[in-house]
Amino acid sequence: MVREIVTYPSEVLTTPTQSVDVVDREVRDLVKDMFETMYHAEGVGLAANQIGVPLRVMVIDTTPKEDAPNLKLVLINPEIVSSEGRVKYKEGCLSFPGLTVEVERAEKVKVRALNEHGEEIEVNLEGFPAIVFQHELDHLNGITFIDRLKGWRRRIALERYRKILKGVQRSA
Ligand code: NI
Repeated sequence: MVREIVTYPSEVLTTPTQSVDVVDREVRDLVKDMFETMYHAEGVGLAANQIGVPLRVMVIDTTPKEDAPNLKLVLINPEIVSSEGRVKYKEGCLSFPGLTVEVERAEKVKVRALNEHGEEIEVNLEGFPAIVFQHELDHLNGITFIDRLKGWRRRIALERYRKILKGVQRSA
């Protein structure tokens, strides 16, 4: 089922999510809804709190993006084991429709998580998938890409987003 995506500012986006105790049918149903919602919105990653569910669950599928590797992942209770390098990338976010901001993140990350069957997995991500993962991990920690900007950069991005929201209201 396609769910409604929560947009900023909303408390569920700025509150850290909770670990999943048991990967059961309910969690798998959530994952299914998250993929459907992400594809419907033409996104490449989605965190559970973006559909209002405060659990540490994310889905990623970079396949639709032409210059990125075909990669589809379900990551439950994810954590970064190690990281290296720095890279800047202009990111978008389904919870900030219309806004893009340049964020600096690690270039490579080694990730440990549970998959949708409750099995522990370890994956090495590099480049675009690594960026998507770190963006979604921030969501699970109650952090949005705006919080990765400092000082005037953050103020300008928020001002741009406010203008986008006003424009949406005018045209609605
Ligand atoms: Ni996002």
